[in-house]
Amino acid sequence: MKKAIVIGATSGIGKGISNLLVENLFTVGITGRRTNLLQEMKTEHLNFFEIATLDITEVNTIEIKLNELVKTLGGLDLLIICSGTGDLNEKLEFNIEQKTIETNILGFTCVADWAFNYFEKQKSGHLVGISSVGGLRGSRFAPAYNASKAFQINYLEALRQKAKKSKMPIIITDVRPGFVNTEMAKGEGLFWVAPVDKAAKQIFKAIRNKKKVLYVTKRWRIVAGLLKRIPNSLYEKM
Ligand SMILES: NC(=O)c1ccc[n+]([C@@H]2O[C@H](COP(=O)([O-])OP(=O)(O)OC[C@H]3O[C@@H](n4cnc5c(N)ncnc54)[C@H](OP(=O)(O)O)[C@@H]3O)[C@@H](O)[C@H]2O)c1
Repeated sequence: MKKAIVIGATSGIGKGISNLLVENLFTVGITGRRTNLLQEMKTEHLNFFEIATLDITEVNTIEIKLNELVKTLGGLDLLIICSGTGDLNEKLEFNIEQKTIETNILGFTCVADWAFNYFEKQKSGHLVGISSVGGLRGSRFAPAYNASKAFQINYLEALRQKAKKSKMPIIITDVRPGFVNTEMAKGEGLFWVAPVDKAAKQIFKAIRNKKKVLYVTKRWRIVAGLLKRIPNSLYEKM
């Protein structure tokens, strides 16, 4: 039976993918700060979920907690980083930017590094990060959020390069959602908002197919292509 850890499994995409992994006979270590939600999930799949309360901004505790969780699971084949935060912050309130950086950059890096080093020692494994289409350009509405997603995209590319160089079967998948119907999908004028189930299914399929980059849903690839092509002089005015 395959073993996975989902970081940020208490709601949204992480919860959806955790349940789908169990349906596909994975044993899953589910993590997040809200212990009550982890316990609720475990009551539904007693033998398939192991829980660990974990705040990824507390980087000094990550290594110990993940090592313990892997021991309980009895191994690790797949780790998915779904945790994330992001608020609209047009007024540049620093506490919002700080929380975003601590979660999406500091915490993300700490978990990604732990996973890569674990898989390197094991000589195989699969790391998945949920970045965002937002990471492709800056945003005056949520500067730290988009910048943190750009960091994740770039960091995952670096790890993929490192994996290739090692010649080991270590797979790195960068999932870039547009909008998914979760607590995080904020603001007005949202479009092509995918249900969580649909997003989870597409992510699971991409994991099985060892994809490097996935847009969720697939038509967001078109938006990504357009975003990348908008000239700077025009983008500045938007
Ligand atoms: N929804 C969208 O439209 C959308 C679009 C693009 C990208 N994304 C990305 O998709 C990922 C999942 O987000 P979602 O939409 O599923 O939102 P969500 O329902 O708000 O889920 C966020 C998850 O992150 C966890 N989390 C937040 N801060 C954490 C921390 N400090 N330590 C540990 N876990 C933490 C939360 O768990 P606890 O609160 O229990 O800790 C929760 O499980 C995020 O990285 C987000 O940026 C979402």
